[in-house]
Amino acid sequence: MPADNASRLHITLGDAIYSLRAIRRLKPDPISDSDLATILDAARQAPNGANQQEWHFVVLRDAEVRKRFGELYREAWWAKRKDNGYNSPEELPAHYRSPMGLAESIGEAPVILLVCATQPGFRESVIPATQNMLLAARALGIGGTISTLHASVVERVAELVNLPPDVTIVYSIPLGYPKGRFGPVTRKPLAEIVSQDTWGKTPSWA
Ligand SMILES: Cc1cc2nc3c(=O)[nH]c(=O)nc-3n(C[C@H](O)[C@H](O)[C@H](O)COP(=O)(O)O)c2cc1C
Repeated sequence: MPADNASRLHITLGDAIYSLRAIRRLKPDPISDSDLATILDAARQAPNGANQQEWHFVVLRDAEVRKRFGELYREAWWAKRKDNGYNSPEELPAHYRSPMGLAESIGEAPVILLVCATQPGFRESVIPATQNMLLAARALGIGGTISTLHASVVERVAELVNLPPDVTIVYSIPLGYPKGRFGPVTRKPLAEIVSQDTWGKTPSWA
């Protein structure tokens, strides 16, 4: 089975990495079971602390559950903005426009993946799995983005999906077919972010 999943991801690694960007506007079209299985199978190949695999992925597909999650996500999103002193859409800097759109619509994504750490101290261990998942989704033409919640809603989301004690949600990832296009992304040049041997010494190759 794993080999089958690997062979389904047949765009080049370069194409996947260089065109993977945050896709927040998603079509409502469903994602097939086999695509979800491939995406999550890619996730579980990821490196993680001492290979303890203290992760669990809750896949939200039921329309009512997604709708309720969407309401809580929206509340969380605004709680985060209010923590930063933004109280209304008019006050938000431009870079929040697209994330705000996601906050309004995440419940309509055909799938929302909750990436969980199953023990305290393992939150960082789910990060590579999350990237694997997004890359595998990209290879299947499916987009999404990493997003986070806010402490004020965490208990209610845990209740919604019956999360056991000790399990925490690290990321919420909407997935769906993009309304827009994949990549390229805008990033700082290498010379700005790389030093060689000592901080601030820019290598000639950067
Ligand atoms: C740890 C982390 C948390 C993020 N949280 C959110 C979020 O809450 N909402 C959101 O819309 N995007 C979120 N993002 C997505 C980033 O905004 C996005 O990766 C970044 O702006 C680069 O976008 P691009 O790849 O389309 O250029 C998060 C990304 C990371 C890595």
